[in-house]
Amino acid sequence: MKALIAAGGHATRLRPITWTRNKHLIPLANQPMLLFPIKKIIDAGITDILINVNPGEIPLMANALGDGREHGATFTYVEQRGGAKGLAHVVANAQEHLNGERFLFFLGDNIILGSIRRLVERFQNEQLDCMIALSRVKDPHRFGVPEFDANGRLVRTIEKPEHPPSSFAVTGIYLFDGRFFEAFKTMVPSARGEYEITDMITWYIQNGKTGHEEITGWWKDTGTPDALIEGNALIMDDLPREQFCVQCEIPDATHIQGLVSIGKHTRISSDCLIRGPVVIGEHCTIESSYIGPYTAIGNHVTIKNTEVEHSVVLDGATIDTTRRIVNSLIGLQSTLVDYRRSHPKTGHRLVVGDNSLVEL
Ligand code: G1P
Repeated sequence: MKALIAAGGHATRLRPITWTRNKHLIPLANQPMLLFPIKKIIDAGITDILINVNPGEIPLMANALGDGREHGATFTYVEQRGGAKGLAHVVANAQEHLNGERFLFFLGDNIILGSIRRLVERFQNEQLDCMIALSRVKDPHRFGVPEFDANGRLVRTIEKPEHPPSSFAVTGIYLFDGRFFEAFKTMVPSARGEYEITDMITWYIQNGKTGHEEITGWWKDTGTPDALIEGNALIMDDLPREQFCVQCEIPDATHIQGLVSIGKHTRISSDCLIRGPVVIGEHCTIESSYIGPYTAIGNHVTIKNTEVEHSVVLDGATIDTTRRIVNSLIGLQSTLVDYRRSHPKTGHRLVVGDNSLVEL
């Protein structure tokens, strides 16, 4: 069986970060987000993986993720044609690669902690035509939502309903048989102009054998900054212990507590406290600072005189402020400094990109 991962889109809720990079390459625990779904798919025994990308992004994505060889898999990049017209359209766009066979479809921004093996096995062993994974959520109106009848039978799935008929989200992990492409021809776009994947699932419920399974472990769609920072924390909790290692010289007096990973050529002064789980990349400078739990710091980052906790700091950022930075997502090459040089002494001087969120 092949898998198709959706890794395109514009991720407007993550702007300004996504003005300059594809959301799926934003690092969680210092690894591109997309690697986590990829590992789940390979773990389920599927190694032939198609990756749907935005027009013109194949070199960028292939450069970041490779051809799959290092994971024992094959990655084929499929460029989205015909514009962004919804998730069912993303699948239809990959028709020539899927050859009418059964396949797994995985949204690249969905992060789960458990395995998808059982889901794939049930789809195969029970010869289902479609299989969906559900997760209980507090805010189902943000997702596709399943509706059940009085006997608990799945009757349809609805995209982002104002009044959700259940407290489940349809997660971005789906299995379909080869009839998808025939059925797609009968689809019409929704009111928001998209070919909804939930309409395709409803078609399968009405025209075939559709299974569903609840994901009881943690599941997150990392579409917003808060969800992404939480995703980073959960991934850090799930990292194997052997991935935490210190590859640079650390002064004896530096306090390192818990699981901490520090890359090559990073300098940490003796008056720092690093309390894990923390991941720090290569060529960073950390001086007179506290780096608290669930913080991932990229490469070439400078942090001085600051406390940073539960945050994601991307490559090349500089933070030199006496303030405490928490629950934050700091973009590539950003600078956060105290404004101390001239009058007036009060007030904030800001250069903030489009769609930024700054809480002072
Ligand atoms: C998409 C799907 C939705 C699903 C969600 C899961 O929504 O349309 O049915 O519940 O992914 O992540 P989106 O995140 O693109 O708004």
